[in-house]
Amino acid sequence: MFTFGVDYYPEHWPEERRAEDARLMAEAGFNLVRLAEFAWSRLEPREGVFDFEWLDRAIAILAGHDIQVVLGTPTASPPPWLMDRSAELFLVREDGRRATFGNRREYCPNNPVYHDYTRRIVTQMAEHYAGCPSVVGWQIDNEFGARCFCPICRTAFQEWLRRRYGSLDELNTRWGAVFWSHEYTGWEQIPVPVETGGSPNPGLALDFYRFASDSYVDYQRMQVDILREKCPDHFVAHNFMGFGYDRIDYFDLARDLDLVAWDIYPRGFWDVRAEVEPSGAALSADTMRGLKHQNFWAMEQQAGPSGWETVGGTPRPGELRLWAYQSIAHGADAVVFFRWRTCRFGTEAYWHGLLDHHGIPGRRYEEIRRMGAEIKRIGEQIHGAAIKPEVAMALSYESRFAFQIQPGHPQFSYAEHFRHIYRALHGRNVPVDVVAPTDDLSSYSLVIAPALHVLSEADVGNLARFVEAGGVLVVTSRTGVKDEHNAVVNQRLPGLLAELCGVVVEEYDALPEGECNELEFVCPGLAGRDASASIWCDVLNSTGATVVARYAQSYYAGEPAIALNEVGAGRVVYVGTFGDAILWSTLVDWLIALAGVKPLLAAPEGVEVTERWQRDRRLLFVLNHTAEEQEVVLDTAGVNLLDGGSVVEGAVAIAPRDVLVILEEQQEEEII
Ligand code: GAL
Repeated sequence: MFTFGVDYYPEHWPEERRAEDARLMAEAGFNLVRLAEFAWSRLEPREGVFDFEWLDRAIAILAGHDIQVVLGTPTASPPPWLMDRSAELFLVREDGRRATFGNRREYCPNNPVYHDYTRRIVTQMAEHYAGCPSVVGWQIDNEFGARCFCPICRTAFQEWLRRRYGSLDELNTRWGAVFWSHEYTGWEQIPVPVETGGSPNPGLALDFYRFASDSYVDYQRMQVDILREKCPDHFVAHNFMGFGYDRIDYFDLARDLDLVAWDIYPRGFWDVRAEVEPSGAALSADTMRGLKHQNFWAMEQQAGPSGWETVGGTPRPGELRLWAYQSIAHGADAVVFFRWRTCRFGTEAYWHGLLDHHGIPGRRYEEIRRMGAEIKRIGEQIHGAAIKPEVAMALSYESRFAFQIQPGHPQFSYAEHFRHIYRALHGRNVPVDVVAPTDDLSSYSLVIAPALHVLSEADVGNLARFVEAGGVLVVTSRTGVKDEHNAVVNQRLPGLLAELCGVVVEEYDALPEGECNELEFVCPGLAGRDASASIWCDVLNSTGATVVARYAQSYYAGEPAIALNEVGAGRVVYVGTFGDAILWSTLVDWLIALAGVKPLLAAPEGVEVTERWQRDRRLLFVLNHTAEEQEVVLDTAGVNLLDGGSVVEGAVAIAPRDVLVILEEQQEEEII
């Protein structure tokens, strides 16, 4: 069954309204709601006093319409009676200031008292709902995040370090603590990197960021263990925040879960742009799918204008449906909209649901009702269909954390660099998996690993195996600069990858903002193309690689900027600069040709094409993100599942913000 649902807060509305809500939900085709992830004050109104009756009644009404339930554990928004117990329950922010009551996500993830209360509410809920036939799964907490710098975390960090290093001698050596006389003689002396301490030791800061990430992984595991024990038939998920969130190692956070759920707001917070760049949501979806190498749930799919204090741009007619299909096109096996009805009160009174404050169905509801009817017809054909890209991009949270500490260049952003490259692939309709550097790469032809700054032997071994087996690997500047302790390596760059790349970096030049160095391409297939180096220029010396492009300006004019190394059956391309959009556009054409990867379809700008595979049947998704009719030239025939019409090879028109979901005709051999 394809899950089509909505996030619902019955506790915000008079009980008399519930029957009408459930009726309208069923009419929209919803078969699931998420409930209760912020309802702690109603579930445990006073310490140790639990009340599930109101929720039971809400679930029963929904069950009357065959609507199933995912329950949220409510730990993201603890009630005042709990937080009033002690100031220590609140997290301390990077600026050293303690949070106070009044928002959400203000707890310290390592506070033992908070853990006790968490265990109790989660256990109570799990025991109460284990046998409820409507409940199918759990969402733990809500959007984990925010590092805590409090004294409890500091002590826990010291313990974490003791386990990691064993001795202070080892820690002092790895961190280079001799610098500025930071050598520790007692674990209790080790600080946390609050802003008031000034720019920290990079080794300490990276370890703290790892520890802060582990803190949420451990806190989540505590809840996972309870739910698995009490509710063995339910799935356990958490709602992640896409590619953009960079405070938790999402690969680690995903490991203990049955599935990754994702909160997706293509227009973002307070964003009033007329056009939304489709590659943004696409990259997040591909990242969410990559975390467990499996399809994911869109747990909060945008349902209206966003906004807290101010209101963001209204989704244009067709956009909500289009964005929901975009999630599906990238591997969502469930779409759950946030939220049902716009709340009349609270911080998010301007974050719109499908219904407005007044609760009367309007344009947005009708649009999703139409989609609900489509999903009823086609959901089974889509559900579980796999995505099998030939291209992967390696995402390293370790490197991302390290760049937060020392970006190396004021204009450098790891996320932007990554997006830049992804955008070029997306613009050509080349499907991409976002994977960890140590994941199995054997199914890919091309792997792009942007700025793998913190490089381990394990990363290098994995990448080398991929290349030796015939893969094309792309490495970019600032790779291999740091060891696992965030100290600069004692080798010529790119450090551990120098041999595989067949180049060493003789010098590097950080360019001032807005300045570039033109590149001169010297290899067949690229000669004569225009592109520029920017932000960072590695001046390369080939130790075996063939030069692809040279710098045209400055004292290093004529020196190599990009090089290609043949290694066994494989190839490694080192790109010694961040470069402009034209550079990546140019390189991507060349790289996919080198790796033998073909774009799914050439389509006009703003038209996105993806594919999913239902066993050996291909589903082609064509999404027109523009406000004008577009034409694509199909190289296949099949049925457009959305209207049942047949499509043939050749030109097909696609209405503004419309979608085609084409089930490809079965090939003859398959029929035999
Ligand atoms: C999400 C969050 C929701 C709601 C929404 C709109 O990030 O999970 O609870 O806050 O944003 O602000």
